[in-house]
Amino acid sequence: MPRIETALTRLLGIEHPILNAPMLGAAGGALANAVSHAGALGIIAPGLDPTAIRREVTATGNARFAIGFITWQLHRNPAALDVALEARPQAIMLSFGDASPYYSRVKAAGTKIICQVQTRAMALAAAEAGADIIVAQGREAGGHGGAVRGTLGLVPAVVDAVAPISVVAAGGIADGRGLAAALALGAAGVSIGTRFVATRESLWSEARKSVLGTAGADQTLQARLFDTLNDPGWPLEFPARFIRNETSDRWYGKEAELAEVAEAERANYTAIPADDVKRRMVIAGEGLDLIRDIPSAREVVERVIAEAVSTLRHGFTLVQT
Ligand SMILES: Cc1cc2nc3c(=O)[nH]c(=O)nc-3n(C[C@H](O)[C@H](O)[C@H](O)COP(=O)(O)O)c2cc1C
Repeated sequence: MPRIETALTRLLGIEHPILNAPMLGAAGGALANAVSHAGALGIIAPGLDPTAIRREVTATGNARFAIGFITWQLHRNPAALDVALEARPQAIMLSFGDASPYYSRVKAAGTKIICQVQTRAMALAAAEAGADIIVAQGREAGGHGGAVRGTLGLVPAVVDAVAPISVVAAGGIADGRGLAAALALGAAGVSIGTRFVATRESLWSEARKSVLGTAGADQTLQARLFDTLNDPGWPLEFPARFIRNETSDRWYGKEAELAEVAEAERANYTAIPADDVKRRMVIAGEGLDLIRDIPSAREVVERVIAEAVSTLRHGFTLVQT
């Protein structure tokens, strides 16, 4: 298989410039194991519970791995970072909130720090703080993200702002054309979320994965309403992208009304079974149109690399004049 070498592959000692995004509830040790054995870097998102962190680290087997945290949640339980560092991950990835309190601890452990940002200003702050790798996440992304910047505009702006730090593109990338585009924008690799949720190794149930194989990105929305119902601690600046369903049809555009009845509605919502995809939040990004099967994570890595190579070699003709 051909390889694409970049500053990211050299920095992390990996074969392919691909990370699986840290995804709470989806990216466990089994996914990281498969992604890393395929030559990319697997990132687990185990949450803050020490038992869960150790369990998912164990599930990575003998593969390299990194650990991701949601930064504003880590503020509530900073000791989780020590549990993570004890497992000697290749990197710690922090997203959504001020990561500056954690840089010195991560660096003192000899561990690389990856920071996911949603604006150029956040990228500058992460560079200033000493991030080794910056993930520029556009609003096409599945799950939580910024409301303002899209991947196509954000990535080259961040590349220019933080050079020579390696920048990884995230948001809406689900195949090799996305990787080729990200490289053309100056990124050193991609972080892929939704496409890896729809693989055999992700932690989602079959019922939830099958929605990803059939819905299209026109059906996604970016909003706060599911957080109001389920996790109101999320900072206002990070809405989430999900697939429309009965719950979002009821409340989209009526968030002020929802805020008034939030407490009662929260009790109703959290009682809904997780697999009730018509009513529960099903996170997905704009890459959804490109997902039509549930392959192994290795197959995803191999397809993305093969297609990116083919796009870069044969996708256009350079005419000499
Ligand atoms: C199911 C799901 C859960 C996510 N959970 C997290 C998370 O726990 N921490 C995080 O930093 N990012 C999380 N994200 C966002 C990813 O880091 C990444 O930015 C996004 O998946 C990239 O866009 P894509 O889904 O279009 O590939 C999540 C994304 C998805 C799809």
